Amino acid sequence: MSTHPSKDIIGTKGKELKSKRVVLCITGSVAAVQCPEIARTLMRHGAEVFTVMSPMAQKIIHPYLMEWATGNSVVTELTGKIEHVALAGEHSEKADLVLVAPATANTISKIACGIDDTPVTSVVSTAFGSNIPILIAPAMHESMYTHPILDENIKKLKALGVEFIGPRVEEGKAKIAETKEIVDAVIRKLTVKQDFSELKLLVTAGPTVEYIDPVRVITNKSSGRMGVAIVEEALSRGAEVTLVYGLGRTVPPRKARTISVETTEQMCDAVVSELKSRRYDVVIAVAAAADWTPEKRYSYKVSTHKVSTLNVRLKPTKKIVDYVKKVSSETFLVMFRAEYKLSRKDLIESAYRRLLESEADLIVVNDVGKKGVGFGTETNEVFIVDKEKKVIHVPLAPKREVARKILDVVSEKIKTRVSRKSTRR
Ligand SMILES: Cc1cc2nc3c(=O)[nH]c(=O)nc-3n(C[C@H](O)[C@H](O)[C@H](O)COP(=O)(O)O)c2cc1C
Repeated sequence: MSTHPSKDIIGTKGKELKSKRVVLCITGSVAAVQCPEIARTLMRHGAEVFTVMSPMAQKIIHPYLMEWATGNSVVTELTGKIEHVALAGEHSEKADLVLVAPATANTISKIACGIDDTPVTSVVSTAFGSNIPILIAPAMHESMYTHPILDENIKKLKALGVEFIGPRVEEGKAKIAETKEIVDAVIRKLTVKQDFSELKLLVTAGPTVEYIDPVRVITNKSSGRMGVAIVEEALSRGAEVTLVYGLGRTVPPRKARTISVETTEQMCDAVVSELKSRRYDVVIAVAAAADWTPEKRYSYKVSTHKVSTLNVRLKPTKKIVDYVKKVSSETFLVMFRAEYKLSRKDLIESAYRRLLESEADLIVVNDVGKKGVGFGTETNEVFIVDKEKKVIHVPLAPKREVARKILDVVSEKIKTRVSRKSTRR
């Protein structure tokens, strides 16, 4: 039989997804009504789309609609054809990406627990084993979305490398992301540059703590989110990443080799020992290491019943970044600096001075006094300053987006450095 007439739209809007096979898994949410549009937009950008539906999804939209939309037959149950393996098994015809959209609370939690009892969950389980990228676009009522178990399961899946798109929380609902956001995420995932492949990165992230006594610490508000976003971005671009991680609240991806530390001294020792034991191409020091530590650390819990006031004298901690070039002069060093309510000019001036002191190659500075910027937030706004005092402004954006821009700059600088070296030879 000739090609299904519905496929005449393939590639009419772009070639980004040319020859890519995308499996669209639909579960039982009313947001399934958006699936024909999602499928056909992916097709317009060049993809071939195959639909898999859970039994509940089939009660909301009819499989005929998706067969019409994609021009391919729809998987509504598993049969002797072992459809889950045909689509997502380890073979030359396997899908390039699995997109679960809309994803119900039920299906997200089942995937996180390794349960596969619908065509959708079976395809996703198989995709995990075949290393096929998995994207999930949740949709549900807000009350379902804020369930702590679901939250835990989403975190678990993120740590396994699954990417979540949206949702948009409005009108009491965690609505499925807009079609454009979903399609952009698929395009980004399938066309991501591999400009960090064969590069070894050492990233520090999260806050450190300094002990007053065995149970009390001085620390800061860092969540580790910016550093983890850098790690995720670097991994997706092919880097091999070691993360020296303070007590952050963000789960780091399992693909990174993680060394956990508590104090600034421990973080510094871990960084120096890593730099001495293997060659790192890039160090990105994102950690908000505690700058001050008590001069005296009590070996017992200081009781308020025994002393009425407690004077704690603080001394500065080691500056971790100052050790990097001393131990490994060839490593490209990116340091982060947080300032509080400075003018743009002062922010950049003080960052540049610090860059020179540490012999860093780039410094990323932000003003944590601004709304939505820095510690514990989902977003960030930064200025990237180089050795020539050239400044790149990255406006307020999700931290992963900011991480992408920072790595774009690092990638360019490394390329220039390598080409300068080879022309000198
Ligand atoms: C009309 C209708 C709309 C629903 N919308 C949602 C939804 O948006 N999100 C959700 O998590 N569950 C929703 N549900 C409940 C799920 O369909 C139900 O949990 C089902 O067991 C999910 O199965 P599945 O994940 O295998 O598709 C809806 C149910 C109905 C009947």
